[in-house]
Amino acid sequence: MILTYRAELLSVSHDPRDAGPGAVRHEPDGLLAIEDGVVIARGAYADLAGQYPEAERLPGLVVPGFIDAHVHYPQTDSIASYGEQLLDWLDKHIFPAEKAFADKAHADAIAAFFLDELLQNGTTSALVFPTVHEQSVDALFEAALERRMRIVSGKVLMDLGPDGLNDTVASGRAETEALIRRWKSRGRLGYAVTPRFVLASSDAQLADAGALLAEHPEVLMHTHLAENVHEIAAVAGRFPDAADYLDAYDRFGLVTPRSVFAHGVHLPERSCTRLHQSGAGIAVCPSSNLFLGSGHFDFGQADRHGLRLGLGTDVGAGTSFSMLRTAGLAYQAALAREDRLDPFRALYLATAGSAALLHIGDRVGALEVGHEADFVVLDAAATPLLARRTAGADLATRLFALQILGDERAIARTYVMGQCAWTRPSSRI
Ligand code: GUN
Ligand code: ZN
Repeated sequence: MILTYRAELLSVSHDPRDAGPGAVRHEPDGLLAIEDGVVIARGAYADLAGQYPEAERLPGLVVPGFIDAHVHYPQTDSIASYGEQLLDWLDKHIFPAEKAFADKAHADAIAAFFLDELLQNGTTSALVFPTVHEQSVDALFEAALERRMRIVSGKVLMDLGPDGLNDTVASGRAETEALIRRWKSRGRLGYAVTPRFVLASSDAQLADAGALLAEHPEVLMHTHLAENVHEIAAVAGRFPDAADYLDAYDRFGLVTPRSVFAHGVHLPERSCTRLHQSGAGIAVCPSSNLFLGSGHFDFGQADRHGLRLGLGTDVGAGTSFSMLRTAGLAYQAALAREDRLDPFRALYLATAGSAALLHIGDRVGALEVGHEADFVVLDAAATPLLARRTAGADLATRLFALQILGDERAIARTYVMGQCAWTRPSSRI
């Protein structure tokens, strides 16, 4: 069956930093045709209406479904936990909450709520941290399969974790291999070897994570990097002969083109050179960086090195599931270091940039012909203030206002594989 939609369409397929303004594709009155969940035609309505005369009108700005490049589903109920920076916050708030995921029923309930929350925020794909428990991955993947979402995840490796939240080198490997086997080629799911961060794993487990990565070339590597100054000092204490934090991963074979590092707030030039050379990328997490007092990501430095970037909410250190809000905070983080992030590049980071980082850019992120038809209908008049700010405004102004003032209220509808998966209850559309 062919589904057709008529709407204002906007996407940014490549980083405007590298590709220039030509990366922005905008059809003020566009048409999208979808067959079996995949885009088969996209263009100006005037050009395609003859071929597809019955298009359903979507009165809003249609952009690709957002792609959250770093988020923790077990931390959903720990969002907004008071008072600590990273290491103390983990000990006090996060590790106790994650222990509860030994219970599959608990994991099922949170996974379902979490994925529904993503859809309500217009997020259709994500790279997700579960917990150390094998069944926490099953819970997430089962719920993602039901919703047909594109989700990448993998059991957390942390043999140095606290009691009740640790594995061993052997159990970490066995469970990782079992999960890769169990979930291979199912739905729109992907696997990521996921050492929590260098401090949570022994040298032996980090080496084994590198071996797992080498043995399974289709999987990603997902971890944290250089987020917080106290964390960085602890890494330097444990690896006194490492050149820097990244080097502590590198010596175990964990810095590859398929490696996604969250944060990278405090990176020496050497790390950036090595990241660029390896093809590894960074999930920028501005909301979390602000919430935990970690600092502001240095866009200027990353751009000088041509680093691959995506955008992540990092809930529960991030304070919102909204990629619009996270994009707005990325703008503010950039400005705090005297850099500029224009709204089209911010949209790129939240869509095709994150897709490229997750190696799913050939499937999602830009609503091109051949892509899976995940998209969001944005309502630039979602609140009275947004309506006033965007009345009669040009595209850049509307997009920027949505990023600064918008959140889930501005998500009128979310479509997964061409089908409506979320409609805002009070939608005027
Ligand atoms: N570093 C290690 N674990 C975590 C985590 O759960 N959240 C964040 N923000 N950083 C981490
Ligand atoms: Zn994180």
